[in-house]
Amino acid sequence: MRPANLSCFDVTVAVVVAVLLTTAAPSVSGQRSDYPTANLSTRWVNNAAVLPHSVTYSDGSAVRAIVLRSPKAFYGPSFAAGFFCAPPCQTFVFAIFIVYTNSGARITLPVNGMAQVIWSANRASPIGENATLDLTRDGGLVLREANGKLVWSSGTSGQSVAGMEITENGNLVLFDQRNGTAWQSFDHPTDALVPGQSLQQGMRLTANTSTTNWTESKLYMTVLPDGLYGYVESTPPQLYYKRQVRTNKSGKNPTRVTYMNGSLSIFVQSTQPGNPDDSIALPKANSTQYIRLESDGHLRLYEWSDAGSKWTMVSDVIKIFPDDCAFPTVCGEYGICTSGGGQCICPVENKSSSSYFHPVDERKANLGCAPVTPISCQQMKNHHLLTITDVSYFDESQIIMNVKNRDDCKQACLKNCSCRAVAFRYGQNDSDGQCQSVTEVFSLQSIQPETVHYNSSAYLKVQLTPSASDPTQNKMKTILGATLAAIATLVLVVIVAIYVRRRRKYQELDDELDFDILPGMPTRFSFEKLRECTQDFSKKLGEGGFGSVFEGKIGEERIAVKRLEGARQGKKEFLAEVETIGSIEHINLVRLIGFCAEKSNRLLVYEYMPRGSLDRWIYYRHNNAPLDWCTRCKIIMDIAKGLCYLHEECRRKIAHLDIKPQNILLDENFNAKLADFGLSKLIDRDQSKVVTVMRGTPGYLAPEWLTSQITEKVDIYSFGVVLMEIISGRKNIDISQPEESVQLINLLREKAQNDQLIDMIDKNSNDMVSHHEEVIQMMKLAMWCLQNDCNRRPSMSMVVKVLEGAMSVENCLDYSFFNANSVISAQGNPSTYSAPPQASILSGPR
Ligand SMILES: *[C@@H]1O[C@H](CO)[C@@H](O)[C@H](O)[C@H]1NC(C)=O
Ligand SMILES: *[C@@H]1O[C@H](CO)[C@@H](O)[C@H](O)[C@H]1NC(C)=O
Ligand SMILES: *[C@@H]1O[C@H](CO)[C@@H](O)[C@H](O)[C@H]1NC(C)=O
Ligand SMILES: *[C@@H]1O[C@H](CO)[C@@H](O)[C@H](O)[C@H]1NC(C)=O
Ligand SMILES: *[C@@H]1O[C@H](CO)[C@@H](O)[C@H](O)[C@H]1NC(C)=O
Ligand SMILES: *[C@@H]1O[C@H](CO)[C@@H](O)[C@H](O)[C@H]1NC(C)=O
Ligand SMILES: *[C@@H]1O[C@H](CO)[C@@H](O)[C@H](O)[C@H]1NC(C)=O
Ligand SMILES: *[C@@H]1O[C@H](CO)[C@@H](O)[C@H](O)[C@H]1NC(C)=O
Ligand SMILES: *[C@@H]1O[C@H](CO)[C@@H](O)[C@H](O)[C@H]1NC(C)=O
Ligand SMILES: *[C@@H]1O[C@H](CO)[C@@H](O)[C@H](O)[C@H]1NC(C)=O
Ligand SMILES: *[C@@H]1O[C@H](CO)[C@@H](O)[C@H](O)[C@H]1NC(C)=O
Ligand SMILES: *[C@@H]1O[C@H](CO)[C@@H](O)[C@H](O)[C@H]1NC(C)=O
Repeated sequence: MRPANLSCFDVTVAVVVAVLLTTAAPSVSGQRSDYPTANLSTRWVNNAAVLPHSVTYSDGSAVRAIVLRSPKAFYGPSFAAGFFCAPPCQTFVFAIFIVYTNSGARITLPVNGMAQVIWSANRASPIGENATLDLTRDGGLVLREANGKLVWSSGTSGQSVAGMEITENGNLVLFDQRNGTAWQSFDHPTDALVPGQSLQQGMRLTANTSTTNWTESKLYMTVLPDGLYGYVESTPPQLYYKRQVRTNKSGKNPTRVTYMNGSLSIFVQSTQPGNPDDSIALPKANSTQYIRLESDGHLRLYEWSDAGSKWTMVSDVIKIFPDDCAFPTVCGEYGICTSGGGQCICPVENKSSSSYFHPVDERKANLGCAPVTPISCQQMKNHHLLTITDVSYFDESQIIMNVKNRDDCKQACLKNCSCRAVAFRYGQNDSDGQCQSVTEVFSLQSIQPETVHYNSSAYLKVQLTPSASDPTQNKMKTILGATLAAIATLVLVVIVAIYVRRRRKYQELDDELDFDILPGMPTRFSFEKLRECTQDFSKKLGEGGFGSVFEGKIGEERIAVKRLEGARQGKKEFLAEVETIGSIEHINLVRLIGFCAEKSNRLLVYEYMPRGSLDRWIYYRHNNAPLDWCTRCKIIMDIAKGLCYLHEECRRKIAHLDIKPQNILLDENFNAKLADFGLSKLIDRDQSKVVTVMRGTPGYLAPEWLTSQITEKVDIYSFGVVLMEIISGRKNIDISQPEESVQLINLLREKAQNDQLIDMIDKNSNDMVSHHEEVIQMMKLAMWCLQNDCNRRPSMSMVVKVLEGAMSVENCLDYSFFNANSVISAQGNPSTYSAPPQASILSGPR
């Protein structure tokens, strides 16, 4: 045994109290010191203090055993039933698990020897601390919350129960006076099987939704009279696996699939035990094993390894598909799994830009996609079939037999509202194919016809919105929207003004007033609390120059926590910056929720922005479909409004000084918000120019940075650069481009002088190209913002007016954009900047 194990063993001795549960009887023989049985009228409370056989593992999971078998050998894995919790250990299931035990029937803790749950009573509705489990004569096992709410029961009322036992092969049995079985866990499998256990005809193994969400997913395996089948729940169910046994025998006995040492054996109807009709070979067991149907649809075999002192996945029991892409939920609903890379993408027609589907969770592509407009059976005339070529669908059970040609296949789907998609598969002749219809669309798989030797296309039903409604209505909407926005802005201005005045008063009253008691300020969090909210900073969203951003959750609210590394500021300066940021609130500015300043820890808590930063959406590095023109316009408007607020609507003028796509974040609905006010320096209205040291990011720096005479107009220049990037779908400085077009702004100068602006439009998007007239108008606005002379650039409120159509762009623009960035890049001397080019200390979540 390795030293690490030894020390763990020591820990165990300290943790586990060496007395048996008073409520659990020792075994009848009395020779072995395990406690596999329990008598009637016993209540167990889910509390570590009263269940002495409680152990917490290094991963944070814990078991509180009620009945336990001692291991077959001196020590090793054995079965127990009791309460189990997965990290972070806040909710529990009543479960059967395999634990590592020593000869004294004490659960011990070898490294990585976490308890393996093989059955559970209440996985969809976990219980809390102090919940109770009662074993009664008439009711069997009854699980209740601490407040008495019934969660689960074995449902054995009517049969009298005499006791409970965990058998040597892991079956939890309620037995009656005559030693008959009143109830057993083997009759109610969850997602796993142990050797000796059978899945009887009609029983199911149902996978967890995910490793963290244990609710039952839609995937299940079941035994039918002629074999083992895997389905995805839907009406009708969709078949993804089939092991059909062809036999001429017929009898009354139900078919069963038994997990034996070395095989998964299928016994059809009347056959004798020991003579299976078919079997799936498994690796022979060297030690304790179990198989589990997992959330990705695989049936996997796990085995305890004495040598490694851990559980290892030994094999995929059922190699259903050679390719993971073929699993029905691999990319969630409507997701397309791209062969080769195995990446998940949302369906887009002919790589056009109009998207009818959006990802359910931008950061987790494998969770699938959802239609932008839900399908409505009331408006069937607005149904349209989206063509996705070279994809296939797993379920071949719903073939419409009499339909052989593509158009009939599509028509059949359009006529039946419950049809959500058809897949059409054919060889050389597309009037002689197969039409598969589905009522619910799970993952699609992209194929290469040459390698799979067939052609297949999918037609997904989408709901068109009644064509871009009548223009008067749109105008009304715009006016209404603008009015509302104006009112909202006014209210905000008043609130902020009152607030700022109040704050000043406070400051005059008491300059040393403790920060965290100021009303309306961001909340002060303890470091411990933030560590908990972010699950010990486990989910990293991104990294900036001064620290990393982590995802977290406070209650139901998702947050982004920026942990500043090596913050050089003192507490006082930090609090001052937090105060500044916290006092700025606007719909287009990322909200600071709270902060933490404890010892050397400096953290900022921001609202969470599910779609991340704008650069992910405009540079095509993340496989996102190109944004359509309308979305781009909205994003531009949001940025403009956010900046306008900072420049002109705050009581004190605020220059952002680091406008770039990385600092523009998007929420679920692509509303854009500015992040990162760390570089902001307050500029008083009466001082038009303020000299500060050079800051910002190369590529977005205005020419006047060279002279160090800067005003908020530098933001307008950067805004112009961002505008051009949004329009062209590329980075301003892109060294992967041919030399003459590395710098977007130089390219713009050339195209503007030669009247070839149309070349600048993002060619990845047909939608952009088809709106080229409007796009060119937008480019003119960008060029206005890029004027060398900062006095010739518009103010942010003028930009907003132009965007709203209430003003037009200045006519005589100077196209000789002077590009400070080339000068600065050419110098190539990082010490030119006082701040690192990436981010400031207080930069927002990325
Ligand atoms: C359970 O019942 C058995 C047999 O009646 C008895 O020997 C044992 O002491 C009982 N155990 C408890 C904890 O009451
Ligand atoms: C559980 O019960 C114990 C004893 O009655 C009590 O001290 C403890 O606070 C309870 N725990 C919870 C989470 O309610
Ligand atoms: C009850 O059955 C178990 C195994 O099935 C056996 O070991 C035990 O002796 C039986 N007890 C009685 C009282 O028959
Ligand atoms: C759910 O899945 C996880 C990981 O796949 C597994 O550890 C756990 O035992 C499963 N839970 C239940 C209740 O089966
Ligand atoms: C767990 O998954 C189910 C769907 O299977 C979903 O309805 C539920 O919201 C999920 N729960 C959590 C906490 O994510
Ligand atoms: C079933 O019966 C048919 C004809 O009676 C025979 O040809 C076939 O081989 C039989 N199949 C099996 C698996 O016994
Ligand atoms: C499984 O079978 C193999 C060989 O048939 C044997 O060596 C092994 O001990 C068995 N495993 C168990 C757990 O019974
Ligand atoms: C069982 O042990 C043998 C010999 O030690 C080894 O070759 C084999 O891979 C092991 N089987 C599994 C499933 O680990
Ligand atoms: C997409 O491609 C299909 C077949 O190639 C064609 O029939 C359809 O008109 C195309 N759709 C669009 C929007 O271009
Ligand atoms: C529509 O499709 C569903 C599911 O495929 C099918 O059950 C139903 O019979 C169809 N309805 C008609 C009118 O064809
Ligand atoms: C796919 O269809 C085209 C014609 O539509 C045909 O030429 C080609 O052979 C087909 N490919 C396969 C693999 O059947
Ligand atoms: C294609 O299939 C249809 C229907 O089976 C048949 O009538 C037609 O002749 C076939 N065409 C070719 C070119 O084979």
